[in-house]
Amino acid sequence: MRASLHGFALVLLLALGGGTWAAATETVGQADDADEWDGLPGGPGREEVYGMCSACHSLMIVKQQGLSRDDWAEMMDWMVEEQGMPELDEETLTLIIDYLAEHYGVDRRGAGQP
Ligand code: HEC
Repeated sequence: MRASLHGFALVLLLALGGGTWAAATETVGQADDADEWDGLPGGPGREEVYGMCSACHSLMIVKQQGLSRDDWAEMMDWMVEEQGMPELDEETLTLIIDYLAEHYGVDRRGAGQP
């Protein structure tokens, strides 16, 4: 409840164009509302990743990966060619790959993965 109210306030702030304010609130909001997105951190592409990738499997298997941008791009090809993911338009695909590379890139490997 608190989190969604918060989200609403954020949208309101953004709508009012409260530049610095909104930016500051957004940082807090992202930490807050990741839970509502199955743990996905906020940012451009989150909605697409959440909607597309959780259609077939848990986001857990996405989140546990740490791949370079190229490897994510390959993963997406593989998902389309072998796993039956619908082919995405260029824009959405780029958004998703950027999101994944930023949040689930190779620098995460330090955290437990070989
Ligand atoms: C149409 C269904 C479908 C969609 C949509 C889909 N996947 Fe998958 N994905 C699969 C299946 C099936 C597997 C399991 C393949 C296997 O392990 O044999 C899988 C496995 C994976 C894996 C694990 C690969 C590994 O090496 O174990 C990752 C990472 C992954 N998907 C990422 C994604 C991402 C990111 C998206 C969204 C952009 C996505 N998937 C969307 C079907 C899908």
